[in-house]
Amino acid sequence: MKKYVIKGPVRLAGDVQISGAKNSTLKLMVASLMIPDEVTLERVPRIRDVFLMAQVLEQLGAGVSFEGDRLVIDASGELSEETPYELVTKMRASIQVLGPLLARLGRARVAMPGGDAIGSRPIDLHLSGLERMGAKFQAEHGYVEGMCDRLRGVNVLLEFPSVGATENLLMAAVTAEGTTTIENAAREPEIQDLAQFLNAAGARIDGAGSPSIAVEGVERLTSVEHKIIPDRIEAGTFAVMAVATRGDVLLKEARADHLELPLQKLEEVGAEVQRDDGVRVTMHRRPSALDLVTLPYPGFPTDLQPMMMVLLSQSDGSSILTENVFEARFIFVDELNRMGTRIRVEGHHAVIRGVEKLSGAPVRVPDIRAGAALVLSGLCAQGRTEIHDPGHIGRGYEDFDEKLRGLGADIEVAVTDA
Ligand code: UD1
Repeated sequence: MKKYVIKGPVRLAGDVQISGAKNSTLKLMVASLMIPDEVTLERVPRIRDVFLMAQVLEQLGAGVSFEGDRLVIDASGELSEETPYELVTKMRASIQVLGPLLARLGRARVAMPGGDAIGSRPIDLHLSGLERMGAKFQAEHGYVEGMCDRLRGVNVLLEFPSVGATENLLMAAVTAEGTTTIENAAREPEIQDLAQFLNAAGARIDGAGSPSIAVEGVERLTSVEHKIIPDRIEAGTFAVMAVATRGDVLLKEARADHLELPLQKLEEVGAEVQRDDGVRVTMHRRPSALDLVTLPYPGFPTDLQPMMMVLLSQSDGSSILTENVFEARFIFVDELNRMGTRIRVEGHHAVIRGVEKLSGAPVRVPDIRAGAALVLSGLCAQGRTEIHDPGHIGRGYEDFDEKLRGLGADIEVAVTDA
């Protein structure tokens, strides 16, 4: 078992290269299942979730080969319909194979998802949308089984702009008969990336990035090469880290247009932000307190909320943070409070009273983003922090500890006694 050992406090300074977006890569990988030809993805992050998704594709019968940050997927052969429990429980995003498999095979058998410990995360919106398109589902022995003839274009109005449901329906609609419209669609940049990729392969998708997406079904998709967008959550994580450590960091290749609200909030707490040629974030003083609400894009991303909590916990006042996307996102607050923060959770609100100093302590990581936040609090705290179960962090961040060392952090990987 590994752990991170951090000695703080530190002021982060220098350049950091932002990797390709995890959440985009995973969806482009599953979308490749619909393309009976070779697909090449560039700027692929070498992270655990991507390797897990590669295993999912291989199980289904696709060829997958990595070469540096390029990934070649060949789904030209016969595919199987079953995604096994062992893989799906490790990564919730495996549920995204439903749409592509139904579109290509007319059948799919997928274990019910697991993944992060951040709430119950149902898939009802995925299933009801696909049902409207003609699929029939039954749930048995922990698996969802879907069957259909060729899917048909329909109008779907989502109750909530779910990222995963929007993507599943978008993929299913690409080769459906007729036109599908998805209203109240999620608008995340990763959905625009998926649509751009599919359009380059021959799909006819219009409006991705807006709440109303129209997809005109086509017969067949063909070979495509695509460069994945930079990871806005990784970039946002380093941006918040730069501010919380009163540092000066250039986020190379970060897209400011994908991070507008987080950058605006960092300015409100007192940071300077330069937005050309990547993003540069500089902070010279104690942050101001701020109220913050997470919402679907272009609202403040729930995935950056844990890091903001650490930042605000060192501010000169009280802040209220409201979590609207994942109810259980505050589960790591007890760990954080062991490092000297003063945070009280009331339902989906957290009241954060700013303190002058944090103190290093042993803590345990429950999920990817909380893990990055606990590392941040270790960088800010006086003394030694041990981060147990750091494996969750490697699910979503490429070379995390190495990138932090490049910015001056004293962070080492050690073996635990247990
Ligand atoms: C994706 C991201 C995740 C991010 C989230 C919100 C990936 C692999 N993960 O997750 O990092 O935090 O978007 O930006 O891309 N919901 C339902 N029924 C459904 C689907 C969702 O009730 O059928 C609820 C969920 O429980 C949750 C909310 O909707 O409370 C948001 O979920 P969704 O937008 O679907 O997020 P994911 O696609 O799971």
